[in-house]
Amino acid sequence: MNTVYLDNAATTAVRPEVVEAMHTVLTENFGNPSSTHAFGRASKAIIESTRKQIAQTLSCKPSEIIFTSGGTEADNCIIRSCVRDLGVRRIISSRIEHHAVLHAIEAMEEEYGVQLDFVDLDEQGSVDLVSLKDLLTNNEATKTLVSLMHVNNEIGNMLELNEVADLCETHGAYFHSDTVQSIGHFRLNLTETPIHFITAAAHKFHGPKGIGFMFVRSNIRLKSLIVGGAQERGLRAGTESIHDIAGLETAFRLAYEHLDQERASIANLKAHFISRIKTLIPGVVFNGDSASANSTYTLVNVRLPLKGDKAAMLLFHLDLNGIACSQGSACQSGSSKGSHVLDQVVPQDEKWMPSLRFSFSKYNTKEEVDRAVEVLADFITKD
Ligand SMILES: Cc1ncc(COP(=O)(O)O)c(C=O)c1O
Repeated sequence: MNTVYLDNAATTAVRPEVVEAMHTVLTENFGNPSSTHAFGRASKAIIESTRKQIAQTLSCKPSEIIFTSGGTEADNCIIRSCVRDLGVRRIISSRIEHHAVLHAIEAMEEEYGVQLDFVDLDEQGSVDLVSLKDLLTNNEATKTLVSLMHVNNEIGNMLELNEVADLCETHGAYFHSDTVQSIGHFRLNLTETPIHFITAAAHKFHGPKGIGFMFVRSNIRLKSLIVGGAQERGLRAGTESIHDIAGLETAFRLAYEHLDQERASIANLKAHFISRIKTLIPGVVFNGDSASANSTYTLVNVRLPLKGDKAAMLLFHLDLNGIACSQGSACQSGSSKGSHVLDQVVPQDEKWMPSLRFSFSKYNTKEEVDRAVEVLADFITKD
């Protein structure tokens, strides 16, 4: 049976060129980058050339890029250090952030008594900029961090990054955006956007897992979450994972080299998916903005007219038929399980409906999309 992988927002297949680059480094570059001899210098050169390449693409300084183990660590490091080292006492965020942000800001409330405020969302789950402006206007005496993600990983809604950055600048707030779902898929210009922090994970754009980076604007003095050696200019102790950094370099470079062409073909797949599912499954509803122009081209989240045992069997049935995607549901009353994101956007009387997220990559084909929708439609429409 041919399997169809439509869960690219969870993680992506590693590009063969990435595997090759990692293999070369694993076999040839074992020197510790902190060593001053030739072996160490060769490893160090890989790190610094990767940093330079990322900085060039994102229009920032190489010294503003700090490698981490991925998005979770980067988000945690920024949020915690803002409170601990920069004196932030108030965080404005949204209820649909990834848990890497939500749980980090909750920890800051618990440990440091930081005031948390959440922006209003519209019916589709997009950030209400008027509400953000009100929150920012109301308390200019307190040092504030705004943490709002660029692309939502469940429903695909996109934030007006430049508008939010301008608002934060006007009101003297720090601005962090979790860009884990957008780096490698969208172009960002960090010279033009007055943002202080962003985060990235290589495994979301065909790189290896366990490596990512954070951007910290040069005028900001954060301190390390993990202490030890002086790696990453003292911002992240521990011997660097050179082969992962080399994998990140190749994945990042290829993602941006082919971005326009891959974006067009993935956007076509998504449009095709939407058109097929509307035809074959009457009653399907799109969660959040995922079927609109305000959404990333990489994913769609659907709510399905399916009850009881069949709803419970949905993901299992798809898996049995070789289709991989993600299941989510709004939290039903009394249940702590379910998606905190869907809970914000699914109307109360439709919370019984199961939801699925399908996310696409350059490796998917129209035939795969057809097959996934057909398997789903068959299951829903047949008794
Ligand atoms: C929006 C977002 N933020 C953060 C993360 C966490 O990144 P990582 O898996 O690299 O820790 C993810 C991964 O699912 C994500 O989608």
